[in-house]
Parts: sequence; structure tokens; C-alpha cells
Amino acid sequence: MIIEPRMRGFICLTAHPKGCEQNVKNQIEYVKSKGKIDGAKKVLVIGASTGFGLASRITSAFGSDAATIGVFFEKEPAEGKTASPGWYNSAAFEVEATKAGLYAKSINGDAFSNEVKQQAIEMIKSDLGQVDLVIYSLASPVRLHPVTGVLHRSTLKPIGSTFTNKTVDFHTGNVTQVSIEPANQEDIDNTVVVMGGEDWSMWMGALKEAGVLANGATTIAYSYIGPEVTEAVYRKGTIGRAKDHLEATAFEITEKLKGINGKGYVSVNKALVTQASSAIPVIPLYISLLYKIMKAEGIHEGCIEQIQRLYAERLYTGSAIPTDDKGRIRIDDWEMRADVQEKIAKLWVESTTESLVQLGDLAGYKQDFLNLFGFGFDGVDYQADANEMVLVPSIK
Ligand code: NAI
Ligand code: NA
Repeated sequence: MIIEPRMRGFICLTAHPKGCEQNVKNQIEYVKSKGKIDGAKKVLVIGASTGFGLASRITSAFGSDAATIGVFFEKEPAEGKTASPGWYNSAAFEVEATKAGLYAKSINGDAFSNEVKQQAIEMIKSDLGQVDLVIYSLASPVRLHPVTGVLHRSTLKPIGSTFTNKTVDFHTGNVTQVSIEPANQEDIDNTVVVMGGEDWSMWMGALKEAGVLANGATTIAYSYIGPEVTEAVYRKGTIGRAKDHLEATAFEITEKLKGINGKGYVSVNKALVTQASSAIPVIPLYISLLYKIMKAEGIHEGCIEQIQRLYAERLYTGSAIPTDDKGRIRIDDWEMRADVQEKIAKLWVESTTESLVQLGDLAGYKQDFLNLFGFGFDGVDYQADANEMVLVPSIK
């Protein structure tokens, strides 16, 4: 069938299999162009199908020839209905990895469940023996707690007082004021349960107990800090509490993995257009200004450039992993550069529906958003019939 983007709010209901394949191929080419990385050889990626997790899987495989197991939660295709983009990305990834002689298998299911953890453990045991790197890159609005059976929902709210600031509808370019009521304690607790570190810690505990972590195994989860303009709704809001918890969990995991000389780290990454970040108010306006400035400075990066740099210049340099005073790896260094942030603060004040066309990179935002779903890629014939029933080879 001919597949076109069908937008509804912050999501696109369709995905293009050929475009997703092109996206994966482009990322692979980028990693290969940067040369080999002396990294981990057996890698488990939790949240492996889109965004930073997909970029991590690609960097491990095509930077370090690693065998990878990817865990994700994606919608399969049905006749006349496309799969979600992460499904097509994973299908393309497995095909390309296999062509390159690399082991790649995937698990499609709820990573928060005990069942999926057991499935991953069994797969590691039978196919790889142990893993030496675990990337934890989940972004989810809900978590069904495996012990209590309670379904928790995360929220994106300020804490303490109502937050009012500018935001942009990136589809229309309309800049408006948005007001978000403050969270109550329940909102905060739920967000920490969903996006904090408890599940990461459960994963690492289960992997260790099962004996499938190699000596010296490392695990990394991704965090965000960001600028003052988004602080009230991001880092000092409900999601920020979850990130505080995630960051604290890294130390707990290091403690838990002492017996095998394992280490848990958080890497603070740059703000990027992903399915997760597009849903956060205020962030799209910030990102459109950030992109404009970083592109002008020649320091713009997407997920793959970020993760390739994380591996090549932080994790696997041959020296100790550099961290900030809170023990975090920082790959948001270019975003947070004082000159970049000063320019954004100035443009922020000046941004209106009329001026943003010049001041911001809305076109870049929209392009990246379309790309998430496999649309807008050069080299893909979007008028041609596409087979929506593409399968992930390792998933029956
Ligand atoms: P994303 O939405 O692109 O990827 C989320 C991944 O999690 C997908 O592979 C999805 O299938 C998987 N997933 C979601 N729920 C699942 C479940 N129940 N079971 C199994 N898999 C599940 O998100 P993105 O942006 O790559 O986020 C990953 C991490 O990076 C998050 O912790 C996020 O906070 C962090 N981060 C994101 C930034 C951004 O600007 N996008 C900036 C810095 C950090
Ligand atoms: Na991800």
C-alpha cells in the first residue's frame, strides 16, 4: 500500500517500513564512517527500537562488532495497518546486522514485567553466555508494577506552583502561553515509579542473580538536565524527580554489582526530537531554538552522533570514564555551553509565532519528527507500494 503520515497530536499513526530502514542504514553508515570502537562485545539494550536506545544498539554492533539483544515494546503490523516505527527499525537492524555477520535477536514485550526479564536471561544464557554492557533506554508513560500489579502513570508537571511559559505547536508554528498546574504527591510518586530507577535496578539484580553479567559489566541509563527555561517543568518537575531517582540508582547498582566489579552509570544526553520529548510542553520550542543555534555553530548532533561520541570519547577511550561532580557522564556538554545557552535565553524572549520562523529551526524539528516515523528520507520512493507486513526476523 501507499503509506502516508497520519498525524494526531504528538504522534503519527503510521510508519513507513522503507523509510525506517533508510533511517537505520543512515545511522549504520555514520557509525562505520567514524571507525572502530574498542567496546563491549555482548550487549543487551533495553529500549532498543527508537531514539537513544536504537542508536546505542547500532553503535555497539557497527562500532564494536557486538552481538546485541534488543528489548522493546512495539506494535506489530497487520494487513493494511502499519507497525510502529520501532518495529520496522528493529526489522531493518536485524537484517543489516545479520548481513554483517553479527548476532542480533529481539524481544518485543513489556520490559517492566518479570516475564520479559526472564526471556532476556534465557536468551543470553543460551546464545551469549553473558553480557558485558547493558543499556537502559526506556521511555514510557506507564508502568505495570510487577510486584503490586498497580498500573502507574507518569506526568509532566511542575512541583510547588503553576508553571506558565511559552510553547510551540510544531505542526502549526503557533507560539502560545501554556499553564500547567502543579503536581500533587501522588503524581510525583507515580512518575518516579515509572521513569525512576527501580526497574533498572530490578533488571540488574535479575541479570546478576542469573549469572549472565560478565565480570566488569557496565550498565548505562540516560538522563537529561537542560536549561533554566525548561527547569520548572523538566528537571525540577515530576520527571526531574524521576531522573534524580535514576541517577541515585546508578550508585546503588554499582554497589549491587561489586562482587563482579560491575558499574552503573548515568549519561546525561542532549535534548533531541524523539517520540518521548515531543510530548513534553515547552521542550519543542526550546529544541527548535537549540537546533538553530547548534547548527549555526556546527555542533548539532542527533541520537546517533550523541551515542557514537558517548562510546568513542567517554566509555571506551582506554582511560577512566570522565564524570561530573555528581558522578554522571556528560554528553550534553555542547548543548549546555554558556554561549549556546545565552543565545537561547535571548531568543526565547523574542520568540513569537511570527518571529520563530526566522529565530528557530521549526523546519528541522518537523523534519526530525517525520523521520522518527520513517517519512521524509532521501532515497525512499514514498509514492511506491510499500509492504507493511515487514517482520523482525528473530520474532516468530
Ligand atoms: P524513545 O521513545 O525514542 O524510546 C523509548 C524506547 O523504550 C523504545 O525502544 C520503546 O519501544 C521502549 N519502551 C517503552 N516502553 C516499554 C516497555 N514497557 N517495555 C519495553 N520497551 C519499552 O525515547 P528516547 O528519547 O530515546 O528516551 C530514552 C531515554 O533517554 C529516556 O530515559 C529519556 O528520558 C532519555 N533522554 C531523552 C532525551 C531526549 O531529548 N529525547 C534527552 C536526554 C535523555
Ligand atoms: Na530509546
